[in-house]
Parts: sequence; C-alpha cells; structure tokens
Amino acid sequence: MSVTQINDVNQLSSAKIADLYRRHLSRGRAKISDVFGTETEISAQGAWVETLDGQKYLNAGGYGVMLLGARHPHVEAAVIKQIQTNPIASRILLEPQAALAAEALCRVVPQGLAHVHFAGSGTEATEAAIKVARTLGKTRLITTINGYHGKTLGALSVTANRLYQDPFRPLLPDVSAVPFGDVAAMEQALKTGPQACVILEPVQGEGGVRIPAFGYLQQVRALCDKYGALMVLDEIQTGMGRLGYWWGANRENVTPDIMLVGKGLSGGIVPVSAMVATAEAFQAFNKDPFIHTSTFSGAPIAMAAARAAVEAIIADNLVFRAAQIGEVLLGRMKEIVKKHCAYLVEEVRGAGLLIGVEMKGPGFAGALLAEMIERHLLVNYSLNAGTVLRFTPPAIMNDAEVEFLLTAFEGACKALARQYTTVNSVGAF
Ligand SMILES: Cc1ncc(COP(=O)(O)O)c(C=O)c1O
Repeated sequence: MSVTQINDVNQLSSAKIADLYRRHLSRGRAKISDVFGTETEISAQGAWVETLDGQKYLNAGGYGVMLLGARHPHVEAAVIKQIQTNPIASRILLEPQAALAAEALCRVVPQGLAHVHFAGSGTEATEAAIKVARTLGKTRLITTINGYHGKTLGALSVTANRLYQDPFRPLLPDVSAVPFGDVAAMEQALKTGPQACVILEPVQGEGGVRIPAFGYLQQVRALCDKYGALMVLDEIQTGMGRLGYWWGANRENVTPDIMLVGKGLSGGIVPVSAMVATAEAFQAFNKDPFIHTSTFSGAPIAMAAARAAVEAIIADNLVFRAAQIGEVLLGRMKEIVKKHCAYLVEEVRGAGLLIGVEMKGPGFAGALLAEMIERHLLVNYSLNAGTVLRFTPPAIMNDAEVEFLLTAFEGACKALARQYTTVNSVGAF
C-alpha cells in the first residue's frame, strides 16, 4: 500500500485527512467531524487557529491548554533555542534547563511546595502523586464525584465516572468518591478507614465548571490534617493563572501537600506536566531518583517551554489579565443568555477564564457548540458533564478578540433560540 508522499500539508484535502483518521487513528473520531465539521487546522498564532482553506477560528477550547495562546514569542524562542542546543538530555550528566524550570515553578506555587517531578501529561502527574501517597503508606484514595484526573489506570481510578472506568476494570482498590463541595461527606470518608490520600480540583473543569463554596479547600485541608491524610490539589486545568489567580489554592490561601500542574505549563508548545510536593511528601522521590522515572521526564525542550511559560505569564501580567477578561466575559455572557435563550440554559458560571455554560440538555449543548463553530469560535465540551460547554480562552486576547468571542456567542445563542423555541424541543445530537 502506498503511503502519502506529500510533505506539504497544504497540498492535502480535508477529505483525505478524514480518510487517514478513519483508516489509522479512530473511526469514531473521524465520525465526530460530521458534527464538528471537516475543517482541518494547520497553523496557530495567538488566540487563533487557521485551517487548510485559510479560515480562522478563535480558540477558546484546546482542553484549556492555551492560556498563553499559540506560539507565544517568548516560549517559542526559548524552545527553538533549546532544539538547536540540547533538546533531549543524556540523563547521565546534570542539565540546567530542568533545574531552572523547577526553580521557576517553585517560585510561583504556594510556599512550602519546593520539590518537583516533571512528566509529560496531566495523567502522569496524577500517577506520580498516587505513587507518592503509597510511599507514605496512604493506599486509600478519596476522590470527588465528577472529578477529572486523567485516564491512565491509576488516574482513571480517581476519575470517578463509570463511562470511562467500566471498560477497564479492575482499577485500583480502596477508592471512594464523595460529592464535590460536601465537607461532611469528606469527613465521613476520611474517618471511616485508614489514613488516606484525598485528590480534588479547586474548580471541577471537566466536571462542568463546578465552583465550590468559598472555604471548601480550607476545610478539606483542615480535615486532611485532622485525619492524617495527604491532600493532592489537581491544578492541571485551573492553574497557571486560568482562574485569575496563579492557583485555585491561592484563592483560599491553602497549601496542599502535593499540587498537580499541566496544560498551561506547556506554554502551548511542548507537552509537560509537574507534580510539586512538600519536602515531607517528596521524601522517597528525593532519596531515590530511580523510584519513579520515565525517559522523557524533564527533557530540556519541555523544561525550556515550562520556564518560559512561567516567565511570560509574569512578564505579560497574564494572571491579572485572566481575571479582568474573565469578569467581562462572564458578565456579558450572562446578559446574552438572558436576552436570547434563558429558557434553554441552566446557568452560566465561571472563575477567571474558565467559564461554563450549562444547558438544559446535552442536545442543546451540542447544537450550541455547532452554532459557535459555524461562527468560528471553538470551545470545549466537558468530558464529565454532557450539558456543559466550557470556555477556556487565552489570557493574551486583546479587546477586539474578546468582542469577537462575545459576538460569535451571541450569534450562536440567537440561532439556537430560532432552532428551539421551547425547552421541550430537544435537538437530536
Ligand atoms: C484537572 C485535570 N486533571 C488531569 C487531567 C489529565 O490531563 P491530561 O489529559 O494531560 O492527561 C485533566 C485534563 O483535562 C484535567 O483537567
């Protein structure tokens, strides 16, 4: 069988790419294009992605990675320089980029977290945390219902959703899931059994942008202290400024034993994640560097991206900008919904640049998503909440880009209202 020879992707058609997906990647994914459209993206810059036929889409999706937009000049320059010097290290000698990235990250995380294990994806950071918990004898895991922590087997065990768990059982034993935001349920779970490891997000992202009452994290921290449990705060989606704070932990002035970082840490350029821990939690990893390894962990190319991402967020004041844009977006999106399609929407809620629009049914969510794509706005669906569309736009957006997003959202809401005149007219999605 002949292999596609064309080096220049511009020469390919979207139909050809869809066919390659069908044949070699996933038929299911190719089929989703029937709803999302068969456009093919080939380049990205700032808040925008560009397709094969030269169309531009504002990217408020990307699974929440693009806090810095695509190809932020500072991150891009650091990565290109690293490619041209030492992209992958020998692992025998010491290497500066890992050390400098760890230092940069430790400067911005809550005080007391000073030890870093780098990995490539969010789920690997979760795996590392679960293994740290085991080194401390905490084999019992407590997670939250609809929490999302990744899909490798260990992480999947604490991603409490049967849809993703059932095909892969048996998973890790001794895992319980309590309602998110429910302090009494957390205490009940903590006190009925040996010392545990609690893992939770400050705001559930994939769970549909669920924001707990202020004080929840502090109360969970206090309970973990009371019952000798390890507290793992998963900031993979919420961190790096997305919520308008560096971390969700800062909002409540909480220091977990372990914090998980990913997505935005990549600077949108090289996949990278991190588990950041206190000295006490990190003991075993500190002592034995081979207890948990992987070939590409701490690769200089990823480390250059991570350090540059932290530097760019500071230099461009993006945490503040995320809070500022987030407030404008949330307020205006609420107004738009109220004006055009309140009867189809349960709630619009958000923190910083993590905004959820909860529809009155998954059919409406699918239809609204399609209308937004139609208007060149890309947003995320939520893996653990079929009725919620998640907006995770970049903090580098200028005012005109913010207006573009709002105009596209308003157009999509109006179109939805024309399509469904009552809440009983659920769309077939
Ligand atoms: C809070 C949280 N934790 C973990 C993960 C898993 O990260 P990854 O998909 O990079 O493995 C995600 C991904 O969406 C996430 O939102």
